[in-house]
Amino acid sequence: MLLPGETMATPFAGQSTEARAIGQLFTETLVISAAILALVTGLVAYCVVKFRARDGAEPAQTHGHTGLEIAWTIVPFLIVVALFVLTARTMGATDPPVDRAADLTVTAHQWWWEVRYPSGAVTANEIHMPAGERVLVELQSADVVHDFWVPALARKIDATPGRPVHFWISADRAGNYFGACAEFCGAQHAWMRIRVVAQTRADFDAWQRRQLLPAAPVGDAPAVRGLRLFNELTCVRCHAIAGVTPDVRVGPDLTHLAERSTLAAGLLENTPANLAAWLADPQALKPGSHMPSLRLTGGQVSDLVAYFETLK
Ligand code: CUA
Repeated sequence: MLLPGETMATPFAGQSTEARAIGQLFTETLVISAAILALVTGLVAYCVVKFRARDGAEPAQTHGHTGLEIAWTIVPFLIVVALFVLTARTMGATDPPVDRAADLTVTAHQWWWEVRYPSGAVTANEIHMPAGERVLVELQSADVVHDFWVPALARKIDATPGRPVHFWISADRAGNYFGACAEFCGAQHAWMRIRVVAQTRADFDAWQRRQLLPAAPVGDAPAVRGLRLFNELTCVRCHAIAGVTPDVRVGPDLTHLAERSTLAAGLLENTPANLAAWLADPQALKPGSHMPSLRLTGGQVSDLVAYFETLK
C-alpha cells in the first residue's frame, strides 16, 4: 500500500549519493556487457555466413594463430580490470568506514522492521532521518534472512541472522521513500514494507525528542479500560510501552504507535478503523503473522483503540 502522495521510485531515479553511484555502476556494466554481446553476436553471424559450406565442400581449415590467442587473453583481462576499477570506485563512494558507530540500528523480523537509535528512540516500519545527511545504518536480523531495499535511496542489502552489516543511507531531499523486504522470508514476506521519512534536521530532532517521552497518562474512561486490557491480556508480553510496561522486544514498541503512518508493516494505513480491524482479527488480515487473534469483543476492541490512539 502506498500512502496518499507517495510514489514508488525506481532504482534508476536515484535520490541519494549512494543510489546514484550504484546506478552509475549498473549503467557502465550494462554498456560494457552490451558491447561484448553485440561484438560476439556480430562475429558469430559473420562467421555463419562467410564460412558456410559451399557446393558441398568444407571451407579451408586453419589451426593456431598466436596473435589471436594473445588478443583473446589480454582483452578479457583488461575488461575484468576495468570492471574491478569501476566497482572499487563505487565501493569507495558507498561503503561506510568500519570504525564508526552506527547512527541507527534496523532489525528485520518476520514480518516487520524494528528501528532503534542510540538516543533510546525506537520505532517500527519507518526510519526517520535528517535529509541531506549521511546516516550509518547497522542492519540485523532477528530470525531468518531478510533484505533491506529502499529503491530510490539504495543500497539493497541482506539482513542475515548473527551477521550485522553496515551501510550508508541518505536522501537529497525531505520526503517519504518507500521500501520493502526483498528476500523471501516466509508467509508474509510481501507485507514487510518499510518507509524512510527524510526530514529537515529540526523536524528530525523534534521527532526524536518526542520518541524519548514515555506514554502520557490516560484520562477518559475508554482509554483507561483499554490500558487495563493491554496489561491483562497477552499484549504486554510482546509489546513494550515506555512508562507502562517493561522493555520487551518481541513485537513492535507501541509507545508512539498513533503517530506512525501504517500498521502491520505497511499493510494498512494507520487509522482508528484499520487499527480496530487489525486488533479484531490480525490472522484474517495477515495470515501467519505472530500477532494472534485474541477473540476480543467489539467493546474490548474499541477500548483498546481508544487507548492506542493516545500513544502519540
Ligand atoms: Cu523479510 Cu522478506
